[in-house]
Order: sequence, then structure tokens, then C-alpha cells
Amino acid sequence: MPYIRSTGLTGHLSFAIAAAALGSAFQHGYNTGVVNAPRDVIMKFINATYTERFNEEPGEQTVTIIFSIMVSIFCIGGMVGALGTAYVAETFGRKGSLLLNNILVFIAAGLMVFSKMAKSYEMLIIGRFFIGLNSGLNAGLVPMYLIEVSPTYLRGAVGTIYQLVITITILISQIVGLPQVLGTEEHWPYVFGMTLIPAIFMLATMPLCPESPRYILIFQGKELAAQKALTWFRGTIEVHDEMDEMRSEYEATKLVPKVTLHEMWTNPVLRTPLIISVVVMLSQQLSGINAAIFFSTKIFESAGLNKETALYATLGMGSINILMTIVSLVLVEKAGRRTLHLVGLGGMGIITVLLTLCMALKTLVPWLSYLSIIWVIGFVVMFATGPGSIPWFLVTELFGQGARAIATSIAVAVNWSANFVVGLSFLPLTTVMGDYTFLIFTVFLAIFWIFTYKRVPETKNKTIEEITSIFRQQIYQ
Ligand SMILES: *[C@@H]1O[C@H](CO)[C@@H](O)[C@H](O)[C@H]1NC(C)=O
Repeated sequence: MPYIRSTGLTGHLSFAIAAAALGSAFQHGYNTGVVNAPRDVIMKFINATYTERFNEEPGEQTVTIIFSIMVSIFCIGGMVGALGTAYVAETFGRKGSLLLNNILVFIAAGLMVFSKMAKSYEMLIIGRFFIGLNSGLNAGLVPMYLIEVSPTYLRGAVGTIYQLVITITILISQIVGLPQVLGTEEHWPYVFGMTLIPAIFMLATMPLCPESPRYILIFQGKELAAQKALTWFRGTIEVHDEMDEMRSEYEATKLVPKVTLHEMWTNPVLRTPLIISVVVMLSQQLSGINAAIFFSTKIFESAGLNKETALYATLGMGSINILMTIVSLVLVEKAGRRTLHLVGLGGMGIITVLLTLCMALKTLVPWLSYLSIIWVIGFVVMFATGPGSIPWFLVTELFGQGARAIATSIAVAVNWSANFVVGLSFLPLTTVMGDYTFLIFTVFLAIFWIFTYKRVPETKNKTIEEITSIFRQQIYQ
């Protein structure tokens, strides 16, 4: 297919990728990490507000509970937003939804920035819910838009950009939240206010990009407009082959006029890729990555790093995550999604065993705690190789236009739910299992590895039509 090679990463396509990904994944990553560094000053704020309002000092537990609600309500917002993705993506289009989604950012930023002035931690909590809604919608909308506007041979690399921006913005949030930057008693609301910058960026750039040609053709039925949009992205009017491919997707969509939840479950052509999408999403969250990052500070400290060096070690881990995601972006079109996902999950699984051994034996052999640091870094490297980025866009690759939005909705909602559950259950688990906590993830990783090996098809260099036909053929075998 020589036409694909000659029309690739045009200036227009790059611009659209930046417009869609920077403004959106920023919210997802930044607000994931933003609560860590200024934790102490926010707890002080909760304490002071509570004391002033009720004329009595809150117990430590009360402050912790309020803080935890503020942290975790982000994931609840994410879940709800994800569930709404299908509806908005089909009603307002991919581009329209992304633009409208910024309304939520303005509401959230307003509530969070003024919470201190208004002496209300409730505003902070509600603001975090709204930014969660926004992020939940982004996590489905952006990969959908990116995959739909990219040429086949670039889809994986472009899809990886969503996770790349997440890793970068997590690091930014950790730096911005430092006491030396904005994480002070006086300035912390501005740390939350930063979310406005990407929203403004997106409002300035996204209107210049066309709607996804697939959406224009298949949902709106406008041939010419779709061709015009595709021409914009490809920088050439030679888009006939791709238009043909989209048309055949359109014809396939007509056979199943309205894909419902019921249809997703009863029709094996849709159920198989749905199960794959859900399991792959679960493999990202239940791999234990957040647990490892949480545990890392403790591991660094037990290896003798003091608080400050442990902090730099955490920032270092964030940087490694970014670098490795870039490597994965390059590899994903060469090695393929399935291979990278298998390597990542397998590597993580082996590392959980080695890490557990080191932690269990460290009292006998002190230098093992240094080895633990290497395992934790290796864990992050393996995560970034595949499980970090691939799930976000794999789901949109596995479905044709008719079912893509609803499948994305379900899969992304599962991702946020798993994120929420791991966040809530991790601390109680460590109290029960101590140094052996990671063995739980060993079991999960083994199951996910086997599932991926047996069920996940390679989607590299295949058109959406070719991928969906894999599942159609399977039922007749
Ligand atoms: C709340 O603030 C007061 C006064 O600064 C302090 O004495 C108390 O220990 C704080 N309580 C908590 C739970 O942080």
C-alpha cells in the first residue's frame, strides 16, 4: 500500500494531535499527581477550616478522611465521565465533545482555586469531581479521535501520545506542587488552577482542526465533507483508498443499525473484542503500578535515602516513565501492540517476585534493599513498555465505528473503577500482607499474560476493517 507511506505525519496531523492530546491528557495526568506534593499544606487547610467552622479541632482521622475523599473522588468523576463518553461522542462528535468538555475544567478550576478563599474544603472536593468527569471523558474521546484521524501505520504511535502526555504531566504536577514552587500554604490553590492553561490551549487550537473524517462519514453520512477533512489531515487529495476503507466500514455499520449494551453482550462479534478491551484495561490498573509508585518512597527510604533524596528518586522514576513511554511509542509500530504488552506484563510479573524476595530477605542481607530500588525502576520501565499506553488506544482499534464509542465507554469506565479500587484497598492490603503484598499482583499479572497470549490479536498495520473481520471470522470457525 504505497499510498499510506507517502502520506504520513503531515503538519496538519501533528497540529491536530497536539491540539487534542496536550489539552486533554494534561488534565488526566496532572490531576492524578497533583495531590501528592502539597499533601501537608492541604491537610493544614482542612484542619484550619474545620476548626474555624465548628469551633473544635478535628481529629487526625477526620482530616485524613476528608483528604482521602478529595483524592479519590477524582476517580469517581472519571468513572462517570467515561460512562458518558459514548453519548457525547455520538451526539456532539469527537471534536465537539472535546471542546465542550472544557466547560467542566472551568467549573472545576473555579471551585478549586477559590476553595481556600471561601474556606470550604467541600468546594475542593466538588472541583476534583468535576475535573474527574472531564478526565474520564478525555480518556475515551482523545484516543478515539487520534486513532480515527491517523493513517494505519501511525495509529499505535499516535495513540501512545495520550499516555506520554499523562506521564509528562504527572511529573509536572509533582514539580509544581513542591514547596519551593507553588505548594505553599499561601499559593497551593494555584497548583489546582494550572488546569486552566491546557483548557485555554485546547480552545485556541482545536477549533482549527476538522472533525474526525470517520465520524463525518459514518455518523453524519456526509461524503464530501469527510473527504475534505481527510484531505486536510493527509495533505493530499489522493485519499481514495482510505475513503474506500472508511466506506466499507460504513457499509458494515449499516448492518447493525444501533449498537446497544445488550447487543454488545449477545453478539459474539462484539463481545469478544469487548472482553479483550476490558481485560487489557484491567491489566493496566491491576498490574500494581500505582502500588509500586506508592511503595517506592518506602523502599527508597529503607535503602537509606533520606526524605529529600527519596523525593528526587520519585521525580527520577517519573522521568524514566516518560523516557520509556517514548521508546514504546517508537517500538509500537515495529514490535506490535501484543508483543509489547506481553513483554511489559511478563517483565512486571517477574519483577514482583524478585522484589518480594528482596523485601523479605532484606533483614538478613542488608544490600538487598539497594537491589529493591533497581526492581522498582525496572517495574516502571516494564509498565511503560506496553501496559501503560497500549490499553488506551487498543480498545478503539478493535471496533468499527458503530460500536467504538460504546465499547470505549465501557472499557474506560472499567479502567477508572479498577484505579479507584486499587487506591482504596492497597493500604489495608499492606497492613495484612506486609512485604508480600506484591504477590497479589504477581497472580494478576500471570493471568493477564496468559489471556493476552491466548486472546489478544496483533493490530499493527491492519486497517480497522481487517481487525474487525478477525472477530467475524472467529465465530464461523
Ligand atoms: C490542627 O491544627 C492545630 C493548630 O495548628 C494543631 O495543634 C493540630 O495538631 C492539628 N490537627 C491535625 C489533625 O492536624
